[in-house]
Amino acid sequence: MKTRGPPLKRYRFTAGATRSGRSAAAAPWQTVRGARRHIRRARVRRPLSGRSERLAPFEPFKTKVVERIPNPSREERERALARAGFNLFNLRSDEVRIDLLTDSGTSAMSDRQWSALMLGDESYAGSRNFAEFESAVRSITGFPHVIPAHQGRGAEHLLCATLVRPGQVVPNNMHFDTTQAHVAHAGGTPVNLPVAEAYDPESEYPFKGDVDVRKLDELLAHEGPERVPFAMVTITNNTGGGQPVSLGNFRRVADVCRARGVPLYLDMCRWAENAYFVRTREAGMEHRSIGEIGRAFFDLADGATMSAKKDGLVNIGGFVAVRDAGVAERLKEVDILYEGFPTYGGLARRDLAAVAVGLQEAMDLEYLEHRIGQVQFLAGLLEDAGVPYLRPVGGHAVYLDVTRFLPHLAADALPGQALVVELYREGGVRSVEVGSIMFGTSGATDHRPLELVRLAIPRRVYSSAHLAYVARTIIAVHERRASVRGVKMTHRPERLPHFTARFAPL
Ligand code: F0G
Repeated sequence: MKTRGPPLKRYRFTAGATRSGRSAAAAPWQTVRGARRHIRRARVRRPLSGRSERLAPFEPFKTKVVERIPNPSREERERALARAGFNLFNLRSDEVRIDLLTDSGTSAMSDRQWSALMLGDESYAGSRNFAEFESAVRSITGFPHVIPAHQGRGAEHLLCATLVRPGQVVPNNMHFDTTQAHVAHAGGTPVNLPVAEAYDPESEYPFKGDVDVRKLDELLAHEGPERVPFAMVTITNNTGGGQPVSLGNFRRVADVCRARGVPLYLDMCRWAENAYFVRTREAGMEHRSIGEIGRAFFDLADGATMSAKKDGLVNIGGFVAVRDAGVAERLKEVDILYEGFPTYGGLARRDLAAVAVGLQEAMDLEYLEHRIGQVQFLAGLLEDAGVPYLRPVGGHAVYLDVTRFLPHLAADALPGQALVVELYREGGVRSVEVGSIMFGTSGATDHRPLELVRLAIPRRVYSSAHLAYVARTIIAVHERRASVRGVKMTHRPERLPHFTARFAPL
């Protein structure tokens, strides 16, 4: 399906090269400078990016139910901050004007999903809704075995408890925090192996989610297959800015894993958004559907974990899907122990019905053009005002580049958290630090955290007017950035610190 109206950004890039330039075809973005030139040219052709002409993306849906947006006063926001220990995870939702804490489980469901919920068959075993769910996952991924879980980290727990043994190593482009924690919880060591461009917030490299294939090969050769239960690739790379992985790169990752005898898994939370970027940026992909591109990835993998709270367009749900019957049997045993019987996996059966519909809706091109268009719209407004953000903007969020936003704050003044606090103080906007607090204590090896503040956009929830309000809030803080003070951590939890830490202003 094509959107009528002004064309959206269409980059045309060649598949699968890294800066080290190991692919045969010399793509313009094999060098950072080449990529920049190429993207600049693409921009000139793009009518949406003129300074005077930021057009909001067309919403391919209309409103049927509304929810009032809270409007806490400045005094109420100050009191809320103090009560919350300056950790926005501790705020009540009615203290938040625009909630960009996460895009996970915050989607608005469609009328079709709500009607699927009403057809819930709440049988403990063999529910009709499980059959619908299983069939949707099979048809998208091609994996024959589908094991449900209550959400993504439930799926990660199943996979890690089944496959990871103490002393083993799990490589990934970049682990998400819960994935990293589950590998570590099973006694393994998570290792991040992204391309170098992933750590440069100003590089315009179009596939910053790509894996450094040479480093992966070296690691697998050094450790041997008995020390690596599986390799994983996260599409899109959330920790690195919602950045896509190219199909060309994933093919080379699969080749290396096969040659070294190591199974390959996908963290497929945002697989449809990743496929959209492949379609718009990778040469030869522009006429392939989202489903076909996704399938090209899944065909190269042995299995996947999924948080359906992202590209499943639901408020709760997840699964592991695998090719191997033996692995599936072992996963089901752990499922029964921790999640529930393998035909519900910790969910109400009606939830499975909503996932079955949501997975299909997330593949719709008009939906994805709006989805990615919203993120680009917000980034465009910030760009016009000179606010530094991680470039190029990714799939589900705008990530502010804290190091350039608050250059006067040293690392120990926790500038990411300071900025999160300030955006809330200014306009009641809730964001999250993705940097040294989220990844500082139990970090994966080789992980040089970028200091970022993420503004994650829930799917089908906020309008462009809301995003313009967010942009105004950020720009107001940026204009008075020299006055922003740092914070210190007053309570540091052992694991996943960002969720429950407490802070105080310096
Ligand atoms: N993998 C990735 C890439 C994720 O982004 C998340 C969750 C998970 C796994 C875990 O899934 O939350 O369903 O248990 N990300 C959310 C976020 C929390 O805000 O980015 P979950």
